Order: sequence, then structure tokens, then C-alpha cells
Amino acid sequence: STALSLFSRVGGMSFFERLVDAFYEGVATDEVLLPLYPEQPDLTGARHRLTLFLAQYWGGPTTYMDERGHPKLRMRHMPFHVGPLERDRWLVHMAAAVEQVCADDAIPDGVADELTAYFVPAAEHLRNDTGLP
Ligand code: HEM
Repeated sequence: STALSLFSRVGGMSFFERLVDAFYEGVATDEVLLPLYPEQPDLTGARHRLTLFLAQYWGGPTTYMDERGHPKLRMRHMPFHVGPLERDRWLVHMAAAVEQVCADDAIPDGVADELTAYFVPAAEHLRNDTGLP
């Protein structure tokens, strides 16, 4: 890690567009996750919101906040069933996306680990069902 934001170290917005595109390619074929998306099969809006959120989180422009207000992600996920299965499938698609976009030589070593270190606990934080009877 350095004093420079991850957003600038990865070269800015296009990295997050590639990451989110790769992630939603997985979601688009996932029979558990896809039905949860209110606008499916159109994932354009969901892609836009996740891209802007992640760019903002890692030190990029605050366009997400301008468009959506305070993220309040736990509250915003309450309408969707997020149990252990959904959490894990979300993480599988994101791990594949991280691996794919970080394979680029232009992406510094360590970025993949930084992304993963955020996504794993964040997905657990958004879980709103134990999966237990
Ligand atoms: C929406 C982030 C995990 C399902 C969103 C939005 C963001 C986001 C920023 C748009 C919120 C808005 O402005 O309205 C994240 C992050 C996660 C995560 C950072 C974990 C690190 C999950 C998981 C599920 C999930 C585990 C599993 C079901 C959804 C759905 C939507 C959504 C169905 C609505 C799509 C839409 O924006 O139209 N998420 N999410 N998310 N998320 Fe997540």
C-alpha cells in the first residue's frame, strides 16, 4: 500500500469498469443471483451503481454520492435475500473478476489482495439471513 489511492494506482475509472463488467458477466449466468436484480435481465443500472460506488470507495470521484446519496449499503441490500449461498456466489464472481482484471501487467502487485481484503468482510456484513432454520 502507498499514500496514493488505489483508484489512482490502477489507472482510474476504466479499471473499475473492467472489474464490474467481468463481475456481471458471472452474475448474468447465475441462477441464484440473477433473479434478485430488480431490472434483470438488464444489468446496466446495477453495473453503473457498483462501478461508481467502488471508484468512490477507493479514492476516485464522488459521483456515486452525488447520484445516490450516502451509500447505506446494508439498508439498501435489505430488500434482497442475502444468505450464505448468495454471499458466497457473489464472492466467487468477484474473485474471478479481480483475478481477470489484475492479470494486466499495468496493475501493481498487491492490488488484488487489497480488493479481496475489502470484499470478503463487506459481503459478510451485507448478509441479512443466517441460512439457518
Ligand atoms: C446493489 C455494492 C454484495 C446483491 C448494490 C449497490 C451497490 C452494491 C453499491 C447499488 C446500491 C444503490 O445505489 O442502490 C455491494 C458490495 C458488496 C455487495 C460492495 C460486497 C462487497 C452483495 C451481495 C449480494 C448483492 C452478497 C447478494 C445477493 C445486490 C442486488 C442489488 C445490489 C440484488 C440491486 C442491484 C441494483 O443496483 O439495481 N450492491 N454489494 N450485493 N446488490 Fe450489492
